[in-house]
Amino acid sequence: MSLFNADSSFIGFDISQSKIIAANKSECIIFQDVPEVAVSNLDGKPVAYGANAVKLCEQDSHTYKKVNPFEGGKITSFVYGKYLLGNILREICKMRNVVRPSIIVAVPLSITEVEEKAIVDIFLQSGAKQVFLLNNAVCSAIAISTTSLLPNGYLVVDIGYAITEIAVTSIGKLVSGHTLNTSGQVITNEIRDYMKYKYDLLLSYEEADNIKKELGSSNPLVSEIHKRIRVKNLKTNDMENFLVSSKDVEHAMDSSIREILDGIIRELKITSPELVSDIIDNGIFLVGGGSQIRNLDNEITHVTGVNTYVYKDTSKSVINGMIKILKNMSKYRDIISDKI
Ligand SMILES: Nc1ncnc2c1ncn2[C@@H]1O[C@H](COP(=O)(O)OP(=O)(O)OP(=O)(O)O)[C@@H](O)[C@H]1O
Ligand SMILES: [Mg+2]
Repeated sequence: MSLFNADSSFIGFDISQSKIIAANKSECIIFQDVPEVAVSNLDGKPVAYGANAVKLCEQDSHTYKKVNPFEGGKITSFVYGKYLLGNILREICKMRNVVRPSIIVAVPLSITEVEEKAIVDIFLQSGAKQVFLLNNAVCSAIAISTTSLLPNGYLVVDIGYAITEIAVTSIGKLVSGHTLNTSGQVITNEIRDYMKYKYDLLLSYEEADNIKKELGSSNPLVSEIHKRIRVKNLKTNDMENFLVSSKDVEHAMDSSIREILDGIIRELKITSPELVSDIIDNGIFLVGGGSQIRNLDNEITHVTGVNTYVYKDTSKSVINGMIKILKNMSKYRDIISDKI
């Protein structure tokens, strides 16, 4: 018997490393915050969540530490995850005057059965009436597709903060996919390491991330570009001015870019000819903040021979797909019921 109850108020969640977004059918995005919990160093008790937690930890790092219970696409703490999601759900219910909503949660490819059960339990124990899980890539494919039918074969490459997922979906189902070790965070750290070992420069994570966004490219730029930074030299211990070159950033990113290209080729190789034919028609889609790496779309087109596109709203493909689903539950009912 299906537990699906379309009369209930539905709320969709995208829980990722750098943000938690919730949406409903009428107002679209109704909540957004960072997935952080402030935990007391004294007794390990959670005391605040979201931006308030970050603020508290910055103000008093001696008493509180910041914990992200969904680090690296995994549930690293059930207790803090429950505290975070439970509070968010209660906050949304209070704001929207909703009682016992039904929840749809977008989840990564690599989620284990134990983690699936944990997510469902957390929401049920926090007052949800029913909980459904849908794959991130399925949501993204629904966001991308422009047809009125359920989308046929799509290859979605999601380059996020903590994970990169390469997945083939068809008719609202995940067909195949794999997760790579590289991600936006890995690439940023590669740039930090490169600058440290080649030039003895100590960049903060934020500086390296900005350099990635401004100078990074998946293949050599025709004319080199530069960014001037003020940075600590580890040998002299002094601050100095330094002109970072796009060439260095390209070198630092190179192995991650190759990993992404190889991953796409590997996924295409194991995909059935019928679905490959759909993918050739539809194109390969890049989503997630990391898909904005300069020239990556052209490089993938060049390497695979399949037209590649960057989704317009890179970090919102999952929640945009979720909103489409919430707005048209009768059309998507089957793919949601399936996951009970
Ligand atoms: N212009 C840009 N060029 C390259 N990378 C970028 C750009 N803008 C954002 N990013 C990267 O995108 C990443 C964040 O992507 P996104 O918002 O999709 O992550 P997420 O969904 O929170 O993470 P995950 O899916 O791994 O849980 C960060 O590593 C950031 O550096
Ligand atoms: Mg993501």
